[in-house]
Order: sequence, then structure tokens, then C-alpha cells
Amino acid sequence: MRGIFIVFEGIDGCGKSTQLSALRERLRSLGVEPLVIREPGGTPVGEQIREILLERPLEMEPLTELLLYEASRSELTRKILRPALEAGHVVLADRFAMASLAYQGYGRGLDLTLVQQCNTIATEGIEPSMTIILDIPVAVAFARKKKAFDRLERAPSEFHERVRQGYRELAQKTPRSILLDGTRPAAELAEQIWKAVRPFFQF
Ligand code: TMP
Repeated sequence: MRGIFIVFEGIDGCGKSTQLSALRERLRSLGVEPLVIREPGGTPVGEQIREILLERPLEMEPLTELLLYEASRSELTRKILRPALEAGHVVLADRFAMASLAYQGYGRGLDLTLVQQCNTIATEGIEPSMTIILDIPVAVAFARKKKAFDRLERAPSEFHERVRQGYRELAQKTPRSILLDGTRPAAELAEQIWKAVRPFFQF
């Protein structure tokens, strides 16, 4: 595929949305208008699934949770992501399939092979050009949060510790990924991210 696909990952409150915006602005200043997507969501069905997953106080089985994330991902992949990459666009994503491995696999305890299989179905095998993982202690991340907590954020801190550990392991296992210290100043992180993604562009 002709496009460039850059994914931001990390526990809630790690600063990925701030860094995604910084990269978008930098690309814009160089004349590139990236397409920004987020998971779960990004399509009409995906946004409804997002509400079920995050906004409603529902109790659900870990497998149900996984399949809802995958349903949102499948819709986003077919309707938006694949067409954009085939057309040669730059796509920046606030989370993608690695989040299901970290949250539903390491966090909820679902079998990682099962999660990977579901990811492959939902993504049609599309993989990021680069995944940027921001690593930060759970206590620091949660101290930063200003908005009301959603359903996942209300999970106990041990859950978020497992997710963080999961991301650290996934960073080691995943080609074309980097783990950065999310406690560093935002401007410094933005430079590190730029260094990592710049080779994909011909500036
Ligand atoms: P966010 O948009 O604030 O990052 O919220 C998304 C939440 O959903 C966040 O708590 C992480 C969680 N999540 C999963 O548990 N599995 C997934 O596959 C994805 C994409 C997100």
C-alpha cells in the first residue's frame, strides 16, 4: 500500500493524543494533511460502539469487550483506513490493534493468540508503518487526567499496571515500534517522534 500509517499507543493519560496533534501540526506545516483516526470510533457504527464500551456503566465479559473493539476496528479498516492507505494518504491513529493485545490480552487476561487472530481479521492484516508507544507510570498518568473517568479508566490500578507491562513487552516483540519515556517534556518527545517517523517522508 502506498500510504504511511503511524499509530500512537500507551496507557490512558500517557500523552499520546498531545503527541499525535503535535505530529499533525508539524506535517501540516510541511504541506502534508494527515488523516487522523481514533479507536474505538471513527465511523457512525464505531462511535455507537464507543459509547457502549466507554460511556455506559455496563458489565460485560472480556470476550464481548474484545469483539466490540474488533467490530469497531473492522468497520474503520474497511470504510476509512484501507481506502486512505491505498490512495497514498498519511494516516495518524490514536490507538489500533496493539491496544487490544495490551488491554484485552494483558489487562483482561484473554489469550494473546486469540486476540491476535481477531486483530488480523479486523485489520485485514494491515500493519502500522510505525507504532509509537509512550511509557509512563500509572500513578503519573492518572494524576494528569482532568476529564471524568470512562468505564475502562475506572478499572483498578492493577489492571492498568498489567496494560503498561503489556505495552512494554509488545514494544520488544513488535518490529517497527518504539517505546519512549512519556514522562519527558512534550517538546522533547515530539522531537524523538519526529526523528523516528521522518525516514518515511521525502522532505
Ligand atoms: P481513548 O480514546 O481515551 O484512548 O479511550 C479508549 C479506551 O479504550 C482506552 O481506555 C483504551 C481502551 N481500548 C481497549 O481496551 N482496547 C482497544 O482495542 C482499544 C482500541 C482501546
